[in-house]
Amino acid sequence: MFGKLAPVVAFLAFTMQPVFGMAVAPRSSQDVFVPPVTYPTEGAVWTVGQTQNVTWDISNAPVNITNSKGLILLRKSGITTPVILQNGFDILLGSIEVTVPWVVEGTDYSLILLGDSGNDSPNFTITGSGVSF
Ligand SMILES: *[C@@H]1O[C@H](CO)[C@@H](O)[C@H](O)[C@H]1NC(C)=O
Ligand SMILES: *[C@@H]1O[C@H](CO)[C@@H](O)[C@H](O)[C@H]1NC(C)=O
Ligand SMILES: *[C@@H]1O[C@H](CO)[C@@H](O)[C@H](O)[C@H]1NC(C)=O
Repeated sequence: MFGKLAPVVAFLAFTMQPVFGMAVAPRSSQDVFVPPVTYPTEGAVWTVGQTQNVTWDISNAPVNITNSKGLILLRKSGITTPVILQNGFDILLGSIEVTVPWVVEGTDYSLILLGDSGNDSPNFTITGSGVSF
């Protein structure tokens, strides 16, 4: 079971380094914007192929944002995967449509919204592929 995931995790560890490298670069704390994800909520159910709006709270956005371009990655069991749900959008939009990817079914999916920094969503379910492991 975990043997199947090992290459994915290795790939992830490699590809995520630049992202986390950027996150630790020194910068003014004033400019760091870490908006909380407001949807998906805990226990939400998404079906493969659907369009869903991911939403986040922009009410505390600073005037100048270090990195205003957002990236949303899928997470499973608390581990960030290389699956890109959306990229290059304005972090101040507060919501963006994503297409639910064709993945194994599970109740332990979440997503991470990266701009200046990363914020994990609550866990939600993806269903509809008919495949689980
Ligand atoms: C997502 O939000 C936009 C703007 O509010 C809306 O037009 C669109 O219909 C929503 N999409 C879905 C799938 O709910
Ligand atoms: C935002 O950036 C502009 C241009 O660099 C600067 O003039 C302004 O003082 C900054 N505002 C804050 C609140 O940091
Ligand atoms: C989601 O579930 C994983 C375990 O499957 C857990 O480690 C993680 O803390 C959960 N995340 C949240 C936001 O509840």
